[in-house]
Amino acid sequence: LSSKILIKGGTVVNADHQEVADVYVEDGVIVSVRPNIKVGDGVRVVYAIGKFVMPGGIDPHTHLAMEFMGTETIDNFFSGQAAALAGGTTTHIDFVIPVDGSLSKGYEAYVEKSKLTCMDYGFHMAITKWDDIVSKEMEIMVEEKGINSFKFFMAYKGSLMISDELLLEGLKKCKSLGALAMVHAENGDAVFEGQKRMIELGITGPEGHALSRPPVLEGEATARAIRLAAFVNTPLYIVHVMSIDAMEEIARAQKSGLKVIGEPVVSGLVLDDSGLWDPDFITAAKFVMSPPIRASGHGKALQAALSTGILKLVGTDHCTFNSTQKSFGIDDFRKIPNGVNGLEERMHLVWDTMVESGQISVTDYVRVTSTECAKLFNIYPRKGAIRAGSDADIIIFNQNSTFHITANSHHSRSDTNVYEGRSGKGKVEVTIAGGKIVWENEELKVVPGSGRYISMPPFSYLYHGIDKADKNYLTSLKAPVNRIKQSR
Ligand code: URP
Ligand code: ZN
Ligand code: ZN
Ligand code: ZN
Repeated sequence: LSSKILIKGGTVVNADHQEVADVYVEDGVIVSVRPNIKVGDGVRVVYAIGKFVMPGGIDPHTHLAMEFMGTETIDNFFSGQAAALAGGTTTHIDFVIPVDGSLSKGYEAYVEKSKLTCMDYGFHMAITKWDDIVSKEMEIMVEEKGINSFKFFMAYKGSLMISDELLLEGLKKCKSLGALAMVHAENGDAVFEGQKRMIELGITGPEGHALSRPPVLEGEATARAIRLAAFVNTPLYIVHVMSIDAMEEIARAQKSGLKVIGEPVVSGLVLDDSGLWDPDFITAAKFVMSPPIRASGHGKALQAALSTGILKLVGTDHCTFNSTQKSFGIDDFRKIPNGVNGLEERMHLVWDTMVESGQISVTDYVRVTSTECAKLFNIYPRKGAIRAGSDADIIIFNQNSTFHITANSHHSRSDTNVYEGRSGKGKVEVTIAGGKIVWENEELKVVPGSGRYISMPPFSYLYHGIDKADKNYLTSLKAPVNRIKQSR
C-alpha cells in the first residue's frame, strides 16, 4: 500500500465550495489541494475525472457490539466499520453504554470492544443513573477520555430510561463541562402503557411495536427535553428524529433562538410503514426500531426539513440483529431487539433521496453527511474537509454509476437488510481512510486494529452562543426574581 496518493482531475467538494482540483495525500494527511499537482515516482495516481472527490462520511449515531434487549448487536467494531468503509463512511461515533450505571466500567468495556477497529471512531456516552460518582465520572470522561457528548434515554422503561430529575441534573452537568446533551425522545411511561394496551388487544406481532409508540409520544418527549434544556440554558441534540411531531418542536425551538440540533436517520428519511407489517414475522421484525418507522408523509417532511436546515446532519442508528435475534420476539413484539442497519447504505441513500431528487446541492450533501458532524463534535477541520492538513479520509463518487443494496453482498454480518432490493444513481467507487485505499473495485482491504480513537474536546460556550458567565441555571433565574422584588 502506497502512503503517497494523488487524486487527479476530480471535482473536489467541501461543505461551502466545489472546484476541479487534484488532491495530494502523504502519510495519512492531505498535503495539498489545487489544480495540476505534479508528482514524481512512487506515488499512486487515482483518476477522478468527471467524478466527485468528497470528505468521507461521518456517522454521528451507531451501536456496534452493544448489549441490548437481552442480546448483542451482530455487527462489532470490525464488521460494522468494514461495512461503513465499503459505503464511503470513514468515521463514526458510537454510544458507550455504562455497565451497572458505571461510566468507567462502560468505557473500559468499549475500549476492549473497539480493539478490532479498522476505521477512525469516537464515543458518545449514555447516562443511565445519577449520583455523585456518575457526576464525577462525567468530568473524567470529558477531561481525560475525549468524550464531549452524553445521551439520555427518555424511553426503554425498566432499563435505560431516565427520569426528568436525572435529565435536569445531566443537562446542568453537560453545561458546566461544555459537553453536548443528547436525548432519545419518546415518553417511556406512555410507551409502556401503549405496549400493554396492544398485548391486551391481542396484537403481539411487529405492527404492535409501531402502534404502541405513536408520533405524539415522540413529540411530547422532544418538547419536554427542549423546554428542560431551555430552562437550564444549554444546547440539546435530538437523536433519530422520526416524526413531523418532533421536527416541528425543533423548528419552533430554533425560531425562538434555542440551540437545538435535530438528527434524522436514514431509515426515517427513506422508509415508511406502507406494506411493512408483512404477515411473515421476520420480514416485518427486521424493521422494528425505536422510534418506529412512521406512516408515509413523515419521511418526506423530514427530507424537506433537512433541505431547509431545520435538521442538520444525517445519522444511521446502525444497530443490527440477525433473524435469530429478531425471533426472540416471535410471540411478543416487546422482545424483538430494536434496531436496523444503515452504516453501509447511508451515503448512497442520502445522495439518491436528497441530491438526485434535487432537494439539496452537492455541497450540502457534504455538509449533512460529514462536515456538520465534525463541527458539532469538535473534530473539524481534522475531519469533514478536503483541505491541506486534514486527515486523508476521502471518497471518489461516480454520480453516473448505480448502487444496488442486498443482504447477499453487503458487508454487515446481518442476514437481512431493511433496504433490500433498492438501487439508485451514484456510487462510492473508492474510499480512502487514514490515507490508505481501503475500498476499490468493489473490494475491501481492511486490517483489524488499524482504526484510531478520535478524542473529542469539550466545546467553548461561545461556539454555542451562550454567555460563559452563565454557568449555573439558577444564576439565570436571579435577574427576573430581583426585578419582581424591585417592582413591588
Ligand atoms: O431501535 C433503536 N433505535 N435501537 C438502538 C438504540 C437506540 O434507541 O438508539
Ligand atoms: Zn477553492
Ligand atoms: Zn435511541
Ligand atoms: Zn441509537
